[in-house]
Amino acid sequence: MRVLIVGSGYVGLCMGVVFAKSHDVTLVDIDQAKVDMINRAESPIYEKDIDTLLSAGISKGSLVAKNTDAEFQPHDVVLIAVGTPSSDDGSVNLDYLKSAVDWIFSREAQICNSDFCVICIKSTVLPGTTTEIVQKQIDARNLGSRIASVFNPEFLREGNAIYDSINPDRIVIGSDNQRATQLIQSLYESTIESDTVFVEMSKESSELCKYVSNCFLATKISFANEIANIAERIPNADIDEVMHAVGLDGRISPKFFGSGAGYGGSCFPKDTIGLISFAENILKTDSRIIRAANEVNKTRPDRLVDLLLECVPNIKGKKVAILGLAFKPDTDDTRYSPSYRIIDLLQSQHAEVWIHDPMMKKILENEDPPKNVTIAYTIEECLTDTDACILVTDWSDYKNAGLASLVAPMRTKIFIDGRRLFVKDEYTQNINYRTIGVLTKCSSIDN
Ligand code: UGA
Repeated sequence: MRVLIVGSGYVGLCMGVVFAKSHDVTLVDIDQAKVDMINRAESPIYEKDIDTLLSAGISKGSLVAKNTDAEFQPHDVVLIAVGTPSSDDGSVNLDYLKSAVDWIFSREAQICNSDFCVICIKSTVLPGTTTEIVQKQIDARNLGSRIASVFNPEFLREGNAIYDSINPDRIVIGSDNQRATQLIQSLYESTIESDTVFVEMSKESSELCKYVSNCFLATKISFANEIANIAERIPNADIDEVMHAVGLDGRISPKFFGSGAGYGGSCFPKDTIGLISFAENILKTDSRIIRAANEVNKTRPDRLVDLLLECVPNIKGKKVAILGLAFKPDTDDTRYSPSYRIIDLLQSQHAEVWIHDPMMKKILENEDPPKNVTIAYTIEECLTDTDACILVTDWSDYKNAGLASLVAPMRTKIFIDGRRLFVKDEYTQNINYRTIGVLTKCSSIDN
């Protein structure tokens, strides 16, 4: 099958390298530097296992990247994987999507197979968008006999996107055209390696399903974080013991009950705000639970700083280390990372902030460092002579180093573990170890 993917960002590239195992894939992007990198088999993003698949696709000739001015062959499926960021008012910005669709229709005779072609949106869009933005153009141009529109949401996690592409829990196909549904199903059948359920539904249900999946997972995390606040005030209670047992109920599942610094990244923050704005401003209905999930989430960085301030009320001039800038491990993505709020809170109290992340070099290739912060490229450099440390991202580098080795170079061993990495460790009396979801106290240590 010939597949054209418009947008070679995170989703487009990951899907592209996976589809190129069994199909001929062309990636399109307006960014020539990105196109050149992909054609040199260099991934513009960091993602586990992407390099091997990218090299395989490029050397086999089943994967190529082009800019929008290039010549194209006709394709069976055109996937749209461009960003749909939040606008300042929380609404979903469709500018990239609209430009991609306009480009597709301006080149339709060349890029769409003349027999039958599916234009499929993979970008996260609100209910009604596929019909409004794609199907209306198909109808207006009288192309309905040979072009169909479909919505097919992606459920890939950053850091696990290749694994998730090959082993999806389910493939949701929003379509009102049987031939289009079958074409999208066969696109996946030759690439996935697990028993996957294909779920067919209306375009509108599938569009809503994507938002609801992310909003539910975000709510689940905030629920666990709210219970963590309760557990840490009860002697001998432990949030993980509680949520593990709760999750063993087949109706609930233990996944995404991990309490900690809260959710970040480009998806949960954006999609929760997007659905709230759609529900309240467009549909004129309440969205109280998702709103509460975001409110709970906003308090998580503050809780970690409070744990520190309870031990050292005055951090003015103190050197405080932050471990982790990426919003989660195994990614160089720092969007909506809780670390930024923690930096702001510490700086508002005039602390001297140092920060380490195992991906720091890659992070700084794409963005400016946080302001007035000292960047450390090794864990030891970050922690040497510090008065306190807040661990924000649960990188295995930190877990593998172990608490004793992390605190060894610190001047005052106050360690706030925002991800409960060392909660079960034995630690010596002269470490002031505090974490969330379990009662921890400030012991008196030399500081
Ligand atoms: C999320 C969804 O998990 C994917 O299914 C979806 O496709 C993707 O958004 C998207 O819409 O594109 P992602 O943002 O990559 O994926 O990351 P997750 O692994 O879901 O983690 C999101 C945030 O939740 C992270 O900050 C993570 O630290 C936090 N988290 C996750 C917790 O605090 N506790 C948990 O138990 C799990």
